[in-house]
Amino acid sequence: MSTLPTVHIPSDASRLPMTLPRLAEKKALGEPIVMVTAYDYPSALAVDTAGVDLVLVGDSGAMTVLGYDSTVPVELDELLMLAKAVRRGLKTPFLVGDLPFGSYEVSDEQAVQTAFRFVKEAGCDAVKLEGGGPASCARARAIIGAGIPVMGHVGLTPQTATALGGYRAQGRTAAAATRVAADALALQEAGCFSIVFEAIPAGVTDVIMEHMEIPVIGIGAGPATDGQVLVLHDLLGIHPDFKPKFAKRFADVHGEMLRGVEAYAEAVRTRAFPGPEHTYGIAPEEIDRLKDRLRADKERSTAT
Ligand code: KIV
Repeated sequence: MSTLPTVHIPSDASRLPMTLPRLAEKKALGEPIVMVTAYDYPSALAVDTAGVDLVLVGDSGAMTVLGYDSTVPVELDELLMLAKAVRRGLKTPFLVGDLPFGSYEVSDEQAVQTAFRFVKEAGCDAVKLEGGGPASCARARAIIGAGIPVMGHVGLTPQTATALGGYRAQGRTAAAATRVAADALALQEAGCFSIVFEAIPAGVTDVIMEHMEIPVIGIGAGPATDGQVLVLHDLLGIHPDFKPKFAKRFADVHGEMLRGVEAYAEAVRTRAFPGPEHTYGIAPEEIDRLKDRLRADKERSTAT
């Protein structure tokens, strides 16, 4: 069982900074944990004000905000820039930076160096890495040993989706589910403070949850996990043409953006914008002086 100290949570706890003991306490109390991705300052302000518990600067930002085809090409420096912007907008949520593909697999040293950058340069509280095999667990151990909390990620791991047969649910046979369970337990054993379960059958989650002592955050893993995470752009409907099976849209931000820009274009074309309220004033005598000066300048230049 968990040996983390008991924390007494005040009634307005949602406004206190999220910490690892509070996260463990939420699991113990059965309070659902809310996690969401963010990639920039304004969305960080919004998710902070909404009172979420955990914010992930996911490598999904490669696709949602940088326009890559997958999460594979995104560079460490690109994700660090997004993480810095998110950090500036957050007060209370616990901030997790996603280690991008190629930034931690080579060696424990590489993984620790990358994790340090997320903490020192971007102000992240923890990092996340994908996979639960021996190499991922070794990297997790090394980073934790260096003093940085690590979140694991099992099931569908998009960085290695090609090796998994594409973007598809994992653990759909007893043998495959056993591998997912083994990965999750190995990451727990390695000392991860939490694990993401992505795209696995709800029945498999139910079974594995009986063995999990650390908070598990699900995405497409059913309702039994300790919390849920969604990609901000999926839940807000920012990309209307893309909706994974497990994502639910809670808003139509793309529609609002479209309506806003169309209304602006219409206002410019009909000269309804800008109005007097958007315009800077100047005293009439200053305008007269300006006209005189310009006239005098013109006369001087035509005389020479
Ligand atoms: O990058 C990401 O957004 C993620 C979440 C799906 C957990 O890894």
